[in-house]
Amino acid sequence: MCGIVGYYGHQNPKNVIMSGLKALEYRGYDSAGVAIFDKGGVKRVRAEGKLEKLEGQLKNVNFTGHTGIGHTRWATHGIPSERNAHPHTVDGVSLVHNGIIENYVEIKNELLKSGAKIQSDTDSELVAHLIARSLKKTKSLLKSVFAVLPKLKGAFSIVVISEEYPDEIVAFKNGPPLLLGVGKGENIIASDLQAIVPYTKNILYIEDNEVIHVDGKEYALYSHKGKKIKRKVEKIQWNQEKAEKQGYPHFMLKEIYEQPRTVAQALQPYVDLEKMQLKMESLSPKYEDILSKVNRIVVVACGTSYYSGMVGEYLIEKLAKIPVEIELASEFRYRQPIISKSTLYLFISQSGETADTIAAMKLVKEHGAPTMALCNVRLSTLDRSVDLKMYMNCDSEIGVASTKAFTSSLILLNVFATYLGYLKQELNQKEYVEQIRRIVDFPSLIDKVLAYNSFFKSTAEQLKKFKGFLYIGRGVSYPIALEGALKLKELAYMHAEGYSAGEMKHGPIALIDKKMAIVVVAPEDDVFEKTLSNLEEACARGGQVIAIGTEQNEKMKKLALHYLSLPQAHWSLNPILAVVPLQLMAYHVSDSLGYDVDQPRNLAKSVTVE
Ligand code: F6R
Repeated sequence: MCGIVGYYGHQNPKNVIMSGLKALEYRGYDSAGVAIFDKGGVKRVRAEGKLEKLEGQLKNVNFTGHTGIGHTRWATHGIPSERNAHPHTVDGVSLVHNGIIENYVEIKNELLKSGAKIQSDTDSELVAHLIARSLKKTKSLLKSVFAVLPKLKGAFSIVVISEEYPDEIVAFKNGPPLLLGVGKGENIIASDLQAIVPYTKNILYIEDNEVIHVDGKEYALYSHKGKKIKRKVEKIQWNQEKAEKQGYPHFMLKEIYEQPRTVAQALQPYVDLEKMQLKMESLSPKYEDILSKVNRIVVVACGTSYYSGMVGEYLIEKLAKIPVEIELASEFRYRQPIISKSTLYLFISQSGETADTIAAMKLVKEHGAPTMALCNVRLSTLDRSVDLKMYMNCDSEIGVASTKAFTSSLILLNVFATYLGYLKQELNQKEYVEQIRRIVDFPSLIDKVLAYNSFFKSTAEQLKKFKGFLYIGRGVSYPIALEGALKLKELAYMHAEGYSAGEMKHGPIALIDKKMAIVVVAPEDDVFEKTLSNLEEACARGGQVIAIGTEQNEKMKKLALHYLSLPQAHWSLNPILAVVPLQLMAYHVSDSLGYDVDQPRNLAKSVTVE
């Protein structure tokens, strides 16, 4: 996580760095800081809390230099505080860091033994000490970084400046993303494109184990062993959207409301409405060749994206009869998975930068198996690395809790499963066209469930009194139960568990009493009656039911304290409808508790550490 920026150029470095940090704040927001050249030295300003605190402190601070670095932090080592905020400065060397130095304990012990005065609890500061020491010998910022790199273990990126070299910036990447924007007489290094594109669209992608050396208007790229690398600067296409709430109190509510449009927008490139067929050419010129050989699919993802993968498992297995497994990216790569070339590995990630997902993708690529991404952020690491790609195409998702990216993924998984079903001749022409028609006609149904906004606004006060929430569902509704529970946990900090309705009696049923809310997701489908029986079991133990079902289902209505009806839809599309009330519920409970809905505590939008 953490957002990092470095700038050399003719513009005011404070303005460029702060605008970059604003674009990167979704990566972490517990503290922030800058170190910028001023009158022959480097002036550092840091603040605990959100970026606006730093902004306030910087209001009347001016800098005379051309060069500086900045950081917005998501704490790994050391609590959020000013002393742990970056940049860390040691003997004139200032450094910002993203990632984890795994051998920091040994480094710290050695530094302490040799008399170093360590000011913070971070692993990052230790690197600044090592570079500052090395600099005394090498008299070169670049050489000192090369000298220190072999001593560091882990996945991390750093950006360093030194008081002695006012036009220089040295950066290293191994893991968390880092890019160089090459402008006219200016160079900007940052974690993400968003921080760079207002200044230049000329981008140099820095790969793992590479060092970039900015020396005034010039720059050079090296391997970590010091070998010069030639790489073309790419001119990217980028339509910068304005992050505006458009009258909504929070980005999250705006993004929930955008879903009828974003789901339709996600679909649009993949459907030929005149011929009523799916257009998959944009996946890759070789898509047919790759997909016709696939006899198994493994979906790898984290968090909400993992839950969309779970829905994908049901969709692909039912519509295309291809066996699917779903894997948590953080587990996948550590258990020596058996990677087969006839398996397609599908990575789902809104950001395209989630460290575990990227590491899993790299592992699969090393084994030469085909890879596919379903992601939102174009030109992200995932997007640039895979063989086949589909885009969520839901514009920027700013709220830290994922909403519209989830529903876009679900509609794309419907498209993909339908395409595979046809390709594998599991769907005949008639079934194929029928399914496309359903998908195309679907987005406007989402409008109907948005009406639950006012319901949850008025019941939030009542809901927040429950001691806990058990979300249950079966079949495609099971992942939706998990997603609903995740949304409430991350936004309202309340105890919420997602469970398969059929598993309740194997343990969680012990939690149920009158203070426990049971949120059941049970649209009418082939497992509805089974879920209803599980719900009866919960009611018999006093659980208070919030039920989500199709239209006016009298059986469920009878059991429920609150009944929320969904419009009639095909089973494959029900998850998209069912999740919307759960998003609204989490939003309103959190808001009524006075929490920061868009930036919940301890979280970050792009999880670039393991
Ligand atoms: C929850 C949420 C996270 C992300 C997860 C993966 O609301 O947003 O669980 O889904 O961190 O992120 P991506 O999809 O960017 O890989």
